[in-house]
Amino acid sequence: MNLRAVLPFAHDTLRKVVRSGDYVVDATCGNGHDTLLLAELVGINGHVIGFDIQQVAIDATRTRLEKAEMTSQVELICASHATIPVYAKQPVRAAIFNLGYLPGGDKQITTTADSTLLSITHLMELLEIGGVIILVIYHGHPEGKTEKEAVVAFCTAINQQAFHVLSYQFINQQNDAPFVIVIEKRKPRQS
Ligand SMILES: C[S@@+](CC[C@H](N)C(=O)[O-])C[C@H]1O[C@@H](n2cnc3c(N)ncnc32)[C@H](O)[C@@H]1O
Repeated sequence: MNLRAVLPFAHDTLRKVVRSGDYVVDATCGNGHDTLLLAELVGINGHVIGFDIQQVAIDATRTRLEKAEMTSQVELICASHATIPVYAKQPVRAAIFNLGYLPGGDKQITTTADSTLLSITHLMELLEIGGVIILVIYHGHPEGKTEKEAVVAFCTAINQQAFHVLSYQFINQQNDAPFVIVIEKRKPRQS
């Protein structure tokens, strides 16, 4: 297939937007794949804040970063991404949410609509002009369906003068195929 699958598309977008020295957020560390990519992209002069509510996910992420010798630019926080304003100390260039449950973990512990929407709202404030929030949406489980409906309704209503909002989706795939939403902050118009 020449078309990029959903997760590679999300990672390509991070590679285009994130530069050395940037300040970025992994809102759902899980096993740390996205955290590691962000750590590589920002380099030793940048900063990654990684959130997960499960200590097992924070530990898995730390192990992955240690193996790659990428710990110095990463701050791992075992708390909900809804607490982002407590930790984020400067404008954010990019944030990624990989929604759902920890692969190989407890499927009952998933992201939820309320905290996801609260975090997106905080991040829209914190985002730099040209910065992005990437949402990888898995909706094959019951909470995922509720969350998807809430996230799509929220994103569809975002002011188009302030943000570009893109949906990247294979519309003929069966079985609740995951998809990506990207929210990009626009330059304010001169009046
Ligand atoms: C699909 S996994 C993330 C996968 C991960 N990005 C990776 O590269 O392996 C979703 C993660 O979100 C975490 N999570 C659920 N609710 C959360 C919340 N409110 N704040 C932060 N993390 C949360 C879960 O514990 C789980 O580890």
